[in-house]
Amino acid sequence: ALQILIVLAVGYLLGSVLPALIIGKMLNGVDIRKYGSGNPGTTNVLRTMGIGPAILVFAIDVLKGVVAALFAKIVMPDDVVLGVTLAGFAVICGHNWPLYFGFRGGKAVATSIGVALVATPVITLVVIPLALVVLVLTRYMSLTGITGSILYFFAVLIFAREYWFLALVIMIVVIFRHRENIKRLLNGTERRVGERVKLR
Ligand code: G3P
Repeated sequence: ALQILIVLAVGYLLGSVLPALIIGKMLNGVDIRKYGSGNPGTTNVLRTMGIGPAILVFAIDVLKGVVAALFAKIVMPDDVVLGVTLAGFAVICGHNWPLYFGFRGGKAVATSIGVALVATPVITLVVIPLALVVLVLTRYMSLTGITGSILYFFAVLIFAREYWFLALVIMIVVIFRHRENIKRLLNGTERRVGERVKLR
């Protein structure tokens, strides 16, 4: 039980570190949440700050998921599936509702990829390129992430059933966090990758 609490706490605190906010402050002195879509994530950093900062933000957000999940494997070696599922839940909650940034965080795509890479590496490495087909065809990052989370859920149900709950949580949270994007997709105002927004 103590292990469970540690896994949840470490996951949540780690998830709460938002590189998009930190890098936006450091490089440009701005709160990224006031620009573009307002989301502190890779896509909005790309849109406002460019490819370099975006890659950095993506790498750190993925790493948060990887570290939280690996930590759970070490702390709960006899209950890896439960540990990774709880760690995933906690790190995603931290990322979306961060302790240090007024509980206004991101949309969980990069961090979920990190958790999924530890939980089900092969499935994840197959689903990512499949989802990227949507990005190439539509240039909508939001639709790409949503599609990826759905593909991941069904792939896990078929090939790694023990992680069904983790995949379900990821899919529901990703869709829920993209509800503004879904509205914009439906009324045709969603921004495509490549469209820039000026900072300040
Ligand atoms: O994961 C976030 C991405 O799917 C959409 O980002 O900034 O367009 O809301 P954004």
